[in-house]
Amino acid sequence: MCGIVGYVGPKDCSEVLVSALRKLEYRGYDSAGIAVFEDGNIRIAKEKGRLDDLVAKMQTEGTPKGHIGVGHTRWATHGVPSAKNSHPHAGGEKVTLVHNGIIENYKELKEQLEAQGRSFVSETDTEVVAQLLDSNYEGDPIEAIAKTLSQVEGSFALGILFADREGELYAVRRESPLIVGVGEDETFIASDVPAIIKYTSQYYLLEHDEVAVLSENGVKFCTLEGEKIEKELKVADWDQEAAEKGGYEHYMLKEIHEQPTAVKTTITPRISNGLPNLEECSITPEKLSEIKQIYVVACGTAMHAGMVGKYVIEKLARVPVHVDIASEFRYREPLINKDDLVIIISQSGETADSLAAMRLAKQMGANTLAIVNAKGSSIAREADMLIYTHAGPEIAVASTKAYMVQISVMYLLGFELAHAKGRIDDETCRRLTSVLSGVPAVIEETIERVDAQCNEGANKLLEAESLLYIGRGLDYALSMEGSLKLKEISYIHSESYAAGELKHGTISLITDGMPVIAVATQNALYDKTVSNIKEVKARGAMVILVCDDDAQVGEDVADFVIRVPRIEEILMPMVAAVPLQLLAYYTSVHRGNDVDKPRNLAKSVTVE
Ligand code: AGP
Repeated sequence: MCGIVGYVGPKDCSEVLVSALRKLEYRGYDSAGIAVFEDGNIRIAKEKGRLDDLVAKMQTEGTPKGHIGVGHTRWATHGVPSAKNSHPHAGGEKVTLVHNGIIENYKELKEQLEAQGRSFVSETDTEVVAQLLDSNYEGDPIEAIAKTLSQVEGSFALGILFADREGELYAVRRESPLIVGVGEDETFIASDVPAIIKYTSQYYLLEHDEVAVLSENGVKFCTLEGEKIEKELKVADWDQEAAEKGGYEHYMLKEIHEQPTAVKTTITPRISNGLPNLEECSITPEKLSEIKQIYVVACGTAMHAGMVGKYVIEKLARVPVHVDIASEFRYREPLINKDDLVIIISQSGETADSLAAMRLAKQMGANTLAIVNAKGSSIAREADMLIYTHAGPEIAVASTKAYMVQISVMYLLGFELAHAKGRIDDETCRRLTSVLSGVPAVIEETIERVDAQCNEGANKLLEAESLLYIGRGLDYALSMEGSLKLKEISYIHSESYAAGELKHGTISLITDGMPVIAVATQNALYDKTVSNIKEVKARGAMVILVCDDDAQVGEDVADFVIRVPRIEEILMPMVAAVPLQLLAYYTSVHRGNDVDKPRNLAKSVTVE
């Protein structure tokens, strides 16, 4: 949550900060602000709303001019979105800072500072750190930072300007991510690589409790005790174009279209001689054959990818798979055994609950496997085993390509596990793997085929107050994701239901014209799902059916049918996901919503 940036260099600092913040708006967009050293003083500009509101304000009131500064885009946690709660926050005369994360003991610290005679202008936890740092600062920045960090609890990444250190920018982090970019004669800090990729692809990953000092002489790193640290310079393999919209109206649409390439790039290096091969990720057939039980722990869309994985792994490998919401798992004292595998799925690799769940699983002695998209993220670094998905940067808050690559990895893992356990023979494993290799082309064909139809179908959902997604088996797992996608960007209430469960209560919600989106791609369950569709139709529902080319659809079954190409049944979610994503996308567009930045949400959820 929240994005922070900082710049030291010859360019116009405000311009660089605003441009970098644009790439971080996915992390929060309640308010934005910058602080820049201008003629020896720190000048702050901040405004409630989007970055454009800040830019407009600076156009009328003046833009800070200088070469060193910090910037912030906010996702409110403590205090409503407002100009006074937006960052940067001054802690008094000496310190101005931006913060991403949460200070858990801010109340106690605030009381202590108030008792010392300090008063606060905002409701934020951030101002508490700013004031604490200000009160601790007696001329030695590292000493003041170290003292402050010994007093605060929680997660944070901070970009700090000390008023009497005009040539320097300080950064430190604990839990929340922060990178330090290095260009020619210029240095940056940022919450994420896309913020600085326009300027440089070279960066350092700041570790917990490390301090970075940026100045015109470059960057130096030290511990909180002031000891120098040598760090490895990394090179981002994401280019600027990949982080831009590339001609599409929205990032979400671009990312839907990028799915074929993302899946191909993710699975191709993990297939050798026609069979899955995850040895590069330290996952050997021997290790797999010993697994007795699997937990998949994740949040939101990533958890839904786990649901697909559960059906696939249990069906093919006959290994029990429990799918858990990370925020539940971490507090419910899960029953994990030492030989269990705990799979953490996360696009960002920074989701607070998923990270905490993984740490808990490790403490309990389980083997952890992370399936992560963001390179070098916390979950990626701490897991015992790691499979990177290669979706490239996902900017739209609504996850699409990350989900698709997560599922593709779950399939590879399922195939290899089933093979290692002797549940499927070589030939079957090769056949399934070969069908998976062909999926990118089918996704491409599907996007082309159903795009206009989904645009039309979305018009049928615009006036709905509430709707249902139904399916059975893998179709049910997929419909969970379809429902989340729709609600998060269209703001229409929607639930996914196992089709057979409707008549145990939920069917009472069906009224005349209520949309029901049914997914039916699994042969053995098809007739049963059709019976459930007829039950809702008989009660007035308007049914949109997503099925495959082979489905025999009677005239009275659905009001609107979206057909997708048929492939091996177990892999159908990868194809049927496309119309669900596009239906959600066009519904959001037609309702005039901000598709890429839906209200109240942020891309990276680094708080509980
Ligand atoms: C999906 O569209 C959402 N943006 C959300 O559910 C997301 O998948 C969830 O917050 C988990 O994020 P992660 O994959 O970065 O851990």
